[in-house]
Amino acid sequence: MQVSINNPLLRTPLRPLPRHVAVIGAGSIGPDIGYYLKSALPDLKLTIIDISQNAIDSALGRFADYARKAVVKGKMSEQQATAVLQQVHGSTDYDAIKNCDWVIEAATENLSLKRRIFAEVEARVAKDAVITSNTSSLPAERIFAELRYKNRATVTHFFAPAWRNPAVEVIDWPAAAPEVVAWLGWVFCNTGKLPLVTKDVPCFMLDRIFDNWCNEAALLLDQASAAEIDSVASEFVHAGPFFVLNLARGNPIITETNTLQADEEGEHYRPAPVFRSVEQWLTVAPGKRVEVPAARLGAIRDRLLGILLSQSVDILDRTIGTPADLDLGCCSALGFRVGPLSLLRQMSGEEARRVLDRLARERPGMPMPRRALADYLRFERHVLVDDVEGVKVITLRRPEALNALHDEMTDEILAVIRRYENDPTVPGFVITGYGTKAFCAGADIGRFPSMLGDREAAAQYSRDCSRLLVHLDAMHKPVVAALNGMALGGGFELAMRCHGLVAMQTSWMQLPEVSLGILPGIGAMVVPYRRWPKAAGTFHAMLRRCEKLNARKALELGVVDQLTNSPMELIQAAVARVLGLAKGHERIHDGPVTVPAFERMAAEAANGLALSPTTLRLLETAVQQAALAPTLSEALEIGYLAFGDSACTGAAREGIAAFGERRTPDFVAAG
Ligand code: COA
Repeated sequence: MQVSINNPLLRTPLRPLPRHVAVIGAGSIGPDIGYYLKSALPDLKLTIIDISQNAIDSALGRFADYARKAVVKGKMSEQQATAVLQQVHGSTDYDAIKNCDWVIEAATENLSLKRRIFAEVEARVAKDAVITSNTSSLPAERIFAELRYKNRATVTHFFAPAWRNPAVEVIDWPAAAPEVVAWLGWVFCNTGKLPLVTKDVPCFMLDRIFDNWCNEAALLLDQASAAEIDSVASEFVHAGPFFVLNLARGNPIITETNTLQADEEGEHYRPAPVFRSVEQWLTVAPGKRVEVPAARLGAIRDRLLGILLSQSVDILDRTIGTPADLDLGCCSALGFRVGPLSLLRQMSGEEARRVLDRLARERPGMPMPRRALADYLRFERHVLVDDVEGVKVITLRRPEALNALHDEMTDEILAVIRRYENDPTVPGFVITGYGTKAFCAGADIGRFPSMLGDREAAAQYSRDCSRLLVHLDAMHKPVVAALNGMALGGGFELAMRCHGLVAMQTSWMQLPEVSLGILPGIGAMVVPYRRWPKAAGTFHAMLRRCEKLNARKALELGVVDQLTNSPMELIQAAVARVLGLAKGHERIHDGPVTVPAFERMAAEAANGLALSPTTLRLLETAVQQAALAPTLSEALEIGYLAFGDSACTGAAREGIAAFGERRTPDFVAAG
């Protein structure tokens, strides 16, 4: 099967998941990497190597601490925590790594030390054991120069805190075997990480942004204080550069990494001398700000923004990484509120030019755009597009929100479909979700608060959200949903408009809206009854009680066409289904339908949550009226309006607020 590689799970890996991993270095990041691996792969054997037994002991102590906290927070069961802590060993003797299939070096950023470590490692592990370094700046070509078998080695650059931060840069350098780079991407994606493949240049992709952002902040200290600069920066990031430098004890690192960039690429990268003389910055915590006079604010803002734009265009011009990875990586790894390319998109061309021209004047040598600015913005930010046997596989990629749908993502999916639906070489489409956890966790709840209390605005929002679904209804080419994980609310509503559904054995579906005090307004109150009338009882329970539908039951009910055991099989099955539907697919029944009467029940969800009787009444009325509607589109309109009604209830206010505040809603008090 011929595949492209944007979604790492579309590849057939040449190796299985790792069984025995060694982490060299029990300092700060090494144990965090180990903990991430053990929590994702509890059966894994993990060996931590360090020259200091004390460091090993405290690393093992940190493991136990993390696992205990995860249990207290309900993120892990006692049983899972026990498994995470088993098969973890520390040693000061390299012989303990002999049978490892992957060794991750996470020692100090020192080239000769790293080379000595690799010599020790290579003397012990098999010649095909994967060796990776967690350097944040040193190119693979330099680090691995003395390795005998270079094809199994590369850089995997994690971001702090590595057990939780999803981003990992995987460096694609000429000596690395492509299957090793692909395997790493596959392992990371399978274990909840976000692999970002980048070129082998000093500081790779994201640290070129981060280091120069921090360096620029330090160079601005002749105009403003650290607290003022962090305050201005807070428009763009959750924590300002000086606050982060304090937290990470990062001053020496910036001196080192920017010296590397300056030596290789020019004096404009030379680190601010102040990094050598200051240990801690006097600054403000995230969320706090000091007042900054307008003129000074403008000057700082321009420079910070300028450096982001300059570095971003340079990264793209040199094809160090992809635009989507750059934007997503800056948010996931570095805490930017929106990616630098999204910032550029929000600015007028004139404003962007002004900022860049100012940077060119004040910081001669800094990279400038080599193409029209609009050229840098031609990419899909929230979906990946791959080609499998001519079928376009669209992967929803918003790992920060379990691939929840928002306007931009909806538009991107539609744009991809429109681009290819009249192309005779494209037989159809597959829609799937990034990673293994979620196909799509629904409509983006973050967008709901603004429409609460406004019936017409909420109904219009529903109509607008449906633009993709209505397009699917009318399509001649087949679109198949490949459910790689949970499909909730709007995510399931998207899947039920696809012309075929295939699912992982482990995937599940749910319509949790009434537990948010709202209704599933973009089809769930209408489509199931017209498409799978025999499953009406199941959908009643899903809508009224938020009952989960597991993949096996969905197969029995005919909601799903096929179940698979691995992500790769899932895509193969979905592609085969697209090809199988080439001659045509069934349309959703257009006329009125009969739905079973709603039996009386307590206003309570399957998990025991007391629900709002008002919300349930709106739901039942909408389902019954929609069933009687003469056409599908009239039935859908009833759903949009019912969503509008639900958005005006106290229950909706309470449910949406509770989700934002991460608490259980109290619908009894809300009514
Ligand atoms: N819209 C926006 N963000 C969403 C989302 C949605 N539909 N579903 C999940 N997210 C976000 C969470 O807010 C969280 O963000 P944070 O890390 O910034 O807090 C992130 O995705 C991860 O979710 P989290 O809740 O931490 O994962 P979990 O494994 O503990 O729980 C769910 C997973 C799906 C049970 C839970 O996220 C949930 O109930 N989501 C809402 C699902 C829903 O009601 N969908 C229908 C909407 S109409």
